[in-house]
Parts: sequence; structure tokens; C-alpha cells
Amino acid sequence: MIKKIDNLYAQATDKQSFSFDGQVAQVFPDMIQRSVPGYNQILQNTAKFAEHFVTDNSNCYDLGCSLGASSLAMSSGITASNVKIIGVDNSAAMLERCHHHIDAFKHSTTIELYEGDIVDFPIENATMVVLNFTLQFIAQPQRKALLENIYKGMKPGGVLLLSEKICFDSALDNQLMIDLHHQFKRENGYSELEISQKRSMLENVLVPETLDDHLTRLKSIGFSRYQCWLQQYNFISMYAVK
Ligand SMILES: C[S@@+](CC[C@H](N)C(=O)[O-])C[C@H]1O[C@@H](n2cnc3c(N)ncnc32)[C@H](O)[C@@H]1O
Repeated sequence: MIKKIDNLYAQATDKQSFSFDGQVAQVFPDMIQRSVPGYNQILQNTAKFAEHFVTDNSNCYDLGCSLGASSLAMSSGITASNVKIIGVDNSAAMLERCHHHIDAFKHSTTIELYEGDIVDFPIENATMVVLNFTLQFIAQPQRKALLENIYKGMKPGGVLLLSEKICFDSALDNQLMIDLHHQFKRENGYSELEISQKRSMLENVLVPETLDDHLTRLKSIGFSRYQCWLQQYNFISMYAVK
């Protein structure tokens, strides 16, 4: 599959805010790899978490699946039998491409895709749930209810893999991490205009929280163990075990 280069914001645009539309879906694999530090490492380790936690006769969920990268990563790690992976996204453009993407890659686990809102999607019999850079796009007042719904649908011993962009209480730390992230984007070929246009378009669309906000909420929901297992600047990945 040919990877299209993300140059969506290379020219001045009057588009006000970011959305997962057809244009974004076309360039998404390039966009996320050049914009999110640690993304590839998270996918590689998603397979390892799947090998460790997924048990026979259970379901796995990829919530906000985009083009299905996390579903394919889970599938490559699963050794249990009779497992189904369910991918959900509310962007029709993403899901259309996701179908092609999933078909183009070899995978041994059944993957079903649904167009829908993850906020009220039923979760059942789950041994693994992935929220890979998706919770940050959900309205803040809805985040706890979404995580509670996931927790309710998980089997004891199952794992939630939650990756997010975060912010920091200290303004100095916050600015440092933003600067380091922008340097990462420059090194990946994005111009100052691309970086600043994307930043203002994501304002109020991607709302980050602190690591402490995340861990406190996971604890209050009832997860028995939770850790941040990866951090690169202001991008982290956590696991939480029911
Ligand atoms: C940053 S992308 C996720 C990347 C993907 N998980 C991966 O591993 O490559 C966020 C995705 O969440 C989807 N999304 C955002 N809000 C959603 C919602 N309320 N319900 C379902 N999908 C949602 C977007 O359409 C987008 O495809």
C-alpha cells in the first residue's frame, strides 16, 4: 500500500478546526508517524500486551480505530483461540479506508469494524481494550463514563491500553515538552507553518489532561493496577488491569 505524504497544512488554510475527514484519512499513516513520538513503539508493544493478556473465547476492542493499526497489532500478538477484535470509529472516511487496510494485511484473528460513537458502544467479555490517542478527542465530561463502560465490559485480569497526549501542571515543563515535540516534528519534515496551523486547528478539539488526572480516574473506576509504561515528551501510554 502506497503511503501518501501529509502536506495538508503546507499552505495557508482558512479551515478552522481539525476533523478526521476524507483528506486526513488519505494521509493518516504518514501524519501519525511523523507527529506522534513513540507511535511505532506503542504498536509494537500492543502486540506484546495482546500476547500476555488476551485469553481464549474473548473479545478485544480498538476504540477510535482509524485505519486499524492497533487492531492489526493486537492480531499479530494474539496466541489465544476463538478471539474476535472489534474496531469502532465514527469517521466514515476512516472506516472505509480501514476496511481496505485490514484486507491488505495478513491477520489471523477475526476483525469486525463498526461505524459508531465509542461513548455508548457496548463492550462485552473483553480481555483487551485499546484507546490509542482517542480519549483525548472525547468531551471531557464524557471521559469517565466511557472508561466506566469499558471497565464494566472487561473480564477480571483484562487490560486497557490507553495512549494520550498529556499536559503538565508546571508551565515550564509544559512549554519544554511542547518545544521538544515541535522539534520532533521539524526533524520529520514539517515546516513552521504546518506546525502552527495544525496546533491552532487542534485547539479545543484535542484536550489533554495530566498523567495524574489519568491515573486518579483509572483508580477511582476500580482498576486494580495501572502504570505509565512509555513516555516520549508529552505523549504517554498507560496500561490498566481490571
Ligand atoms: C488519533 S486517531 C486514533 C489512532 C488509532 N487508534 C491508531 O492506533 O492508529 C483518533 C480516532 O478516533 C476517532 N474518534 C474520535 N472521536 C470518536 C468517537 N466519539 N467515537 C468513535 N471514534 C471517534 C477519530 O475518527 C479517529 O479516527
